[in-house]
Amino acid sequence: MASNLIPFLLLFLSLQSQSFADSPSWVKAGYYYSGSEISASDIKANLFTHLLCAFAFINSTNYNLFINSSQEHKFSNFHNSVKLQNPSISTLLSIWSGRHKSSVFSSMLNQSSSRKSFIDSSITTARLYGFHGIDLYGAWPREGTELVNFGNLLKEWRAAITSEARNSSKPELILVMGGYYLKASDSLSYPFDLMQRNLDWVHFVAYDYYVPSKDNVTGYHAALYGPPAWDNTDSGIKEWRRRGFSSTKLVIGLPYHGYAWTLVNPGNSGVGAEASGPAITKDGSMAYKLIKSYIRSFGDVVVSHYNDTFVVNQFTVASINWVNFDDVEAIKAKVSYARKNGLLGYNVFQVGNDDNWVLSRAGELLNIIQP
Ligand SMILES: *[C@@H]1O[C@H](CO)[C@@H](O)[C@H](O)[C@H]1NC(C)=O
Ligand SMILES: *[C@@H]1O[C@H](CO)[C@@H](O)[C@H](O)[C@H]1NC(C)=O
Ligand SMILES: *[C@@H]1O[C@H](CO)[C@@H](O)[C@H](O)[C@H]1NC(C)=O
Ligand SMILES: *[C@@H]1O[C@H](CO)[C@@H](O)[C@H](O)[C@H]1NC(C)=O
Ligand SMILES: *[C@@H]1O[C@H](CO)[C@@H](O)[C@H](O)[C@H]1NC(C)=O
Ligand SMILES: *[C@@H]1O[C@H](CO)[C@@H](O)[C@H](O)[C@H]1NC(C)=O
Repeated sequence: MASNLIPFLLLFLSLQSQSFADSPSWVKAGYYYSGSEISASDIKANLFTHLLCAFAFINSTNYNLFINSSQEHKFSNFHNSVKLQNPSISTLLSIWSGRHKSSVFSSMLNQSSSRKSFIDSSITTARLYGFHGIDLYGAWPREGTELVNFGNLLKEWRAAITSEARNSSKPELILVMGGYYLKASDSLSYPFDLMQRNLDWVHFVAYDYYVPSKDNVTGYHAALYGPPAWDNTDSGIKEWRRRGFSSTKLVIGLPYHGYAWTLVNPGNSGVGAEASGPAITKDGSMAYKLIKSYIRSFGDVVVSHYNDTFVVNQFTVASINWVNFDDVEAIKAKVSYARKNGLLGYNVFQVGNDDNWVLSRAGELLNIIQP
């Protein structure tokens, strides 16, 4: 009985999802932000399989990529710097698409000549700096013509990448993107079928669900589960699956940052408590290493708690500053979730925010324990 099912399943899978040459079986990816304090040579590259250098931007006149001239040396040295620590690392150039609907990305999408300029430039730039692949980050879900054209872009991009590899006799560039949380009721979506066919994987941006600069009540920005009716990673991944995207090309995002809210009513520290905006930093965002040194600066007075129901770490300072973030426990639980649910791996945002590689080692360790 079971043996009769196998050929059928294999056929089904091969129709659903194309695998590209040298597809990895477990992705441990991390973003390096060129504006971060650390340099590429500081990255413990042996903790990762893929490192993404962020960001290149899209020129609004000719849709070619450009890199901020003050940062260009970081992109041109990136591949060689990280390869010293991990000779088998794969490096990707990450392109910022602009999160707003009226971005240059939107106007690029709607004409095939603009898409071609963008695609050709992305391949040329990636090759110029020695990257193994290309990532598109920040792309918002769409509807109607824009959604169709988003799908066309992915189709044309893969075709160009395949053709360039054939012409140049080089291995095909990896092509990936990041995508955001969708509610079941959202009319906006992604071209999931064409993502599945044309991308090596998609990074589910599993953080920043609630942020103090936008939301006037406290919320967990990256909870794995619940609370019921609140955006969380498990329900987001289930919604992507419901819309037809399979787990086998899905990589879970892991935040190396948290957010601090100012509470309106001191002591009211649950989720959904009234808040009057960011605390501690300008927009309330805090790198993991800043959170750890902030907690330490209070001695024993401030203690962070791990809530394993929601998979979040949180603490309150002086009953008024409410902070939620991912510590070692949350990172481990999420990597373990990715394993149990048959995802392809994880993608850290961003490596420069780690505290002495504690979070990166937590994810890595779990890979060894649960192969
Ligand atoms: C964008 O392209 C235009 C036209 O080729 C060029 O003049 C301009 O310098 C470019 N801008 C950047 C930031 O690369
Ligand atoms: C380029 O880098 C400089 C210095 O880091 C920064 O002030 C500027 O905003 C950057 N420009 C863009 C387009 O990112
Ligand atoms: C594409 O978008 C740009 C900017 O939104 C607009 O000016 C242009 O008319 C659009 N072109 C097409 C063919 O829809
Ligand atoms: C590869 O070569 C073919 C034939 O010369 C050409 O039509 C095609 O545009 C090339 N592809 C790329 C991506 O350069
Ligand atoms: C908080 O935001 C919600 C939704 O945007 C809005 O309905 C409500 O009036 C806001 N409350 C305050 C106190 O600003
Ligand atoms: C997690 O938070 C919920 C809701 O506040 C609470 O009921 C539960 O006891 C907490 N669990 C832990 C382990 O702190």
